[in-house]
Amino acid sequence: MYVELKNLNKRFGGFQASDNISFGIEKGKLIGLLGPSGSGKTTILRMIAGLETPDSGDIFIAGDRVNDLPAAKRGIGFVFQNYALFRYMTVFDNIAFGLTVQKRDKEYIRGRVSELIKLIGLEKMEKRHPHQLSGGQRQRVAFARALAPNPHLLLLDEPFAAIDAKVRKELRSWLRETINKVGITSIFVTHDQEEAVEVADEIIITNSGRVEQVGTPIEIYKNPKTHFAAKFIGESITLADYDKLHGFEKVKGFDRAVLRPEFVHITKVQKELYPHASQRGIVENIFFKGNTLELRVDLGGQKITAYQSLDDASFSVGEEVSVLIYRLYLLGENEVRLEENHSIKSEGSFFI
Ligand SMILES: Nc1ncnc2c1ncn2[C@@H]1O[C@H](COP(=O)(O)OP(=O)(O)OP(=O)(O)O)[C@@H](O)[C@H]1O
Ligand SMILES: [Mg+2]
Repeated sequence: MYVELKNLNKRFGGFQASDNISFGIEKGKLIGLLGPSGSGKTTILRMIAGLETPDSGDIFIAGDRVNDLPAAKRGIGFVFQNYALFRYMTVFDNIAFGLTVQKRDKEYIRGRVSELIKLIGLEKMEKRHPHQLSGGQRQRVAFARALAPNPHLLLLDEPFAAIDAKVRKELRSWLRETINKVGITSIFVTHDQEEAVEVADEIIITNSGRVEQVGTPIEIYKNPKTHFAAKFIGESITLADYDKLHGFEKVKGFDRAVLRPEFVHITKVQKELYPHASQRGIVENIFFKGNTLELRVDLGGQKITAYQSLDDASFSVGEEVSVLIYRLYLLGENEVRLEENHSIKSEGSFFI
């Protein structure tokens, strides 16, 4: 492992911001640290960077324990959530900052900054000041500034949080490609699951100062290990009496279930495929989501959400529809289990 955190603890007053945090990151990987606000993501980054001292535990980078190494000597680049560019410096000087501090010669600095300006696609803008750039451009400059001294590790703390949704999406794929190109080990913090899933090779889910689960986005999505992970990734609702759904029975030790929109299939009543596995519901609302429709359906008092492709049959509000639930995550005390609709199984093979 290139970066390794072992049993890190950090308290602020009486508050446990990091609770026995351990995980490892392979060289060259882009890791997403994903968790709700206040779950301790920034605290983890700050401890890795040396801006915060853990109460106990060890931090290793490239095999060396760095706990006692000052921040400036850790070889880490940091991009902050709020634009932390120097307002009175040009784009060029902002990017050159770390190299100037290192007292690199002018020729080297010019070459390195030009290379980075090209990498971030801001050629001809090097003489501008931060206020003459868009939010997205500013964050690209912050990214180049962090990369300039050739760090071994790049930490990005919600770098796109203050940027509007459309640009943010573009920046995400840009970041993914650029980090691949540079090949630097990186940790990307976000509380936006879609962003984490899209950007990261592997995700670490944090909650209340603890690590809930580590895995690839697909692994966590398909096989959440904790209640929190089951509910946090994907849009979901929790059901108490899941045994009322057709095709499911109460399983001992599993009191509740998580239902995700993609586990639900809605069809016209006349076109119902698996009568034993389906039930009837009433469409309460339809939302247009760009490339899909989101349907809110009342299932005998239980409100559920389903997605519908624009090419499929159209439904209207108030219409009775057939609702087929393929699967659920059942929540046990200490485990999560994927449960398939029994009635579909008994009606023959079925694939999504
Ligand atoms: N210097 C500090 N002094 C006191 N409490 C702190 C300090 N830094 C962080 N905390 C507390 O520790 C907890 C975790 O904070 P942290 O900033 O790591 O969360 P986060 O996951 O980054 O949240 P967000 O998504 O909102 O940025 C919070 O409850 C916060 O109030
Ligand atoms: Mg934070």
